[in-house]
Amino acid sequence: MKIIEAGDYDDLSRKSAGIVLAQVKAKPSSLLVLPTGNTPLGLFRELVKAAKSGAANFGQVAFVTLDEYADIASDDRRRLSSWLSRELLTPLGIAADAFHAFDPRGNPGAEAERIEGVIAARGGIDLAVLGLGPNGHLGFNEPGSPFDSRTRLVSLTPESIRSNAAYWGGEVDVPSTAYTLGLGTINECRSVVLVVSGARKAGILARTLNDAVSINVPATLFRVHPSSIVIADRDALAFAG
Ligand code: GLP
Repeated sequence: MKIIEAGDYDDLSRKSAGIVLAQVKAKPSSLLVLPTGNTPLGLFRELVKAAKSGAANFGQVAFVTLDEYADIASDDRRRLSSWLSRELLTPLGIAADAFHAFDPRGNPGAEAERIEGVIAARGGIDLAVLGLGPNGHLGFNEPGSPFDSRTRLVSLTPESIRSNAAYWGGEVDVPSTAYTLGLGTINECRSVVLVVSGARKAGILARTLNDAVSINVPATLFRVHPSSIVIADRDALAFAG
């Protein structure tokens, strides 16, 4: 595991974008996973800037969604794939058939299998950029998720429902189940990058870096993955030691 310290949020955004751009340059047909949430918005802006200036070409890149709320309508405003499309994929000009998203109305077992099938058919995920949940979750792999878990439907913990309420106006608006790539699926990605920003994440980042590797803090998976980078700003690294 490599740790990269960024001075502030803008620096974090530039540095994490640099990793994604290097991947796309090295392999133009990369299969990428990018997270939702607020943390990656600056990274997304950097990627769009690079594509618009001609410094990067995403023409052959494909994307798989990391996680998605279940049991909501396909055009529900809470859909995480809509967030990703709005913030990144549409501005990047990514074709619809290059974006593999969970269908929130699909049959859970079949849907999880379909996404695993897409990943296998494309020869695996080259790079996954992940955010850090306040309880250490990766995607929606909540504490207790086995390190060899596959893509599946999960129930969200009250803590995750609380932390996601801010996006949707209230806890009652947050769906209680979601799809997520499994920790085993994430562990098989050729490279994984964890982007962490702000004092609010300092406690859980310190646990990720210093606690025993265990399913109690899913993000400790980064400590055993053979090609992992944690990139965090100074505020998030405040308690890292
Ligand atoms: C949600 C998402 C995660 C994301 C996390 C952190 O729980 N399902 O994929 O990483 O939020 O979000 P933020 O970056 O806004 O703190």
